[in-house]
Amino acid sequence: MKQYFLETFGCQMNVVDSERIAALLEQIGYQPTDDAEQADLILLNTCSVRDKAERKVIGHLGRYKPLKQQRPELILGVGGCVAQQEGEDFLSRVPHLDLVFGTHNIHRLPEMLEKVERERERVHAVEFLDRETRVRLFPKRSDSDSVTRFVTVMQGCDNFCSYCIVPYVRGREVSRPSGEIIEEIRQLAENGVREVTLIGQNVNSYGLGVEGELSFAELLRRVNAVDGIERIRFTTSHPKDLSDELIDCFGELDKLCHHLQLPLQSGSDRILEKMNRGYTAGDYLARVERLKRVCPDIRLTTDLIVGFPGETEEDFAATLAVVEQVRYADAYTFLYSPRPKTAAAKLPDDTPAQVKQERFDRLLDIQNAISEQTWQSDVGGIFPVLVEGRSRQGQGQLFGRTTWNRIVNFAGPDELVGRIVPVRVTSSFRNSQLGELVDRNLLRGAG
Ligand code: SAH
Ligand code: SF4
Ligand code: F3S
Repeated sequence: MKQYFLETFGCQMNVVDSERIAALLEQIGYQPTDDAEQADLILLNTCSVRDKAERKVIGHLGRYKPLKQQRPELILGVGGCVAQQEGEDFLSRVPHLDLVFGTHNIHRLPEMLEKVERERERVHAVEFLDRETRVRLFPKRSDSDSVTRFVTVMQGCDNFCSYCIVPYVRGREVSRPSGEIIEEIRQLAENGVREVTLIGQNVNSYGLGVEGELSFAELLRRVNAVDGIERIRFTTSHPKDLSDELIDCFGELDKLCHHLQLPLQSGSDRILEKMNRGYTAGDYLARVERLKRVCPDIRLTTDLIVGFPGETEEDFAATLAVVEQVRYADAYTFLYSPRPKTAAAKLPDDTPAQVKQERFDRLLDIQNAISEQTWQSDVGGIFPVLVEGRSRQGQGQLFGRTTWNRIVNFAGPDELVGRIVPVRVTSSFRNSQLGELVDRNLLRGAG
């Protein structure tokens, strides 16, 4: 049997796309291997959100060159956002590449592979599809052997934040019909899934502009009503589209986890405007205040960009001020990276790299201290943990997550997988916590 090796970079969209790629490959007789040297087909599902991500892809492709030289029949392909960005040119840039498929062309993979295998032709497909076809081709999967799953509710992005390449590589926003989403979640629940994360580049604008479609808040209420589903998460939110109706869901829906990823990007109004984000720091903070009012133990995480063109010390200080006020449980911090086609790439930028790096380090120090305090404050507390499976950490250990999306490892029997159990957190590390199972009657704290 032919074997494939698939590497995935980037965000949840790519994780879901890779599942779809895997399913298609298995339908045409490939089976997975985790050893690239054994593979008949190597595929990279790529991310181009920052230059670093793109360079990583180029680096990995370089690594496979000797394999291709040894075995010319090996098929090497690239999909995802770098493939979309580079298009056909990628084939001339990387002479040992056989196949380039864009973000809208995953369904064509079997046909493309056949062409490469039969005719030894180098092929590419990177055209964007129309709305109707995309709605029809939404990633669907109702079988599952896991407790948690991503469910794609929308794709693409119309926001055009000035620094961001995503709208250019993923195309326009489309929402998936709500009836189909609910049906898929029902089937997932029947197949043992207990937690769903609704995903899209900007889930808050779900349904907007589609006549008769539910709002995202209404969709959440429907998901909350699905028997068997015990937890709901969603990502990513855009602050400008975070409606009061949606915020209030955190107070109303018992299954909605008390965690929200709410990208701030910058705390300076001047920079937010240049970023085309559509909100001010004040608007953002007002939403955070409402979130904390309706759901006092909610924890927020965020994305921050340091060194956007023209960012002054004063702008940067405004970001630090918001970070200190909101006290994020975690933040993903990025150095600004100019991306092809984006509006910001044309802006003059005279801040020295060293100054940007120094700001980045200062932000990281402050955020790390806040994260550490947040996670340490859990130690001694007892929290409901949805058990996801056997931990890779040690023998007899299970792992699960608290409502705040924090991984907890603890000892327990396999029967607990898929159940919500009370766990006392005994210690806290950078990326996870250690805990012990306690008596159900002791359960207090967040749902
Ligand atoms: N749709 C999501 C995710 C976008 S990409 C959202 O809007 O939140 C994830 C993060 O990468 C962004 O939130 C942003 O912080 C960061 N990012 C995007 N483009 C970038 C760039 N050109 N340079 C640095 N960071 C960037
Ligand atoms: Fe990029 Fe902005 Fe769209 Fe997020 S909302 S994907 S940052 S353009
Ligand atoms: Fe990267 Fe594409 Fe996601 S650029 S962040 S993989 S949408």
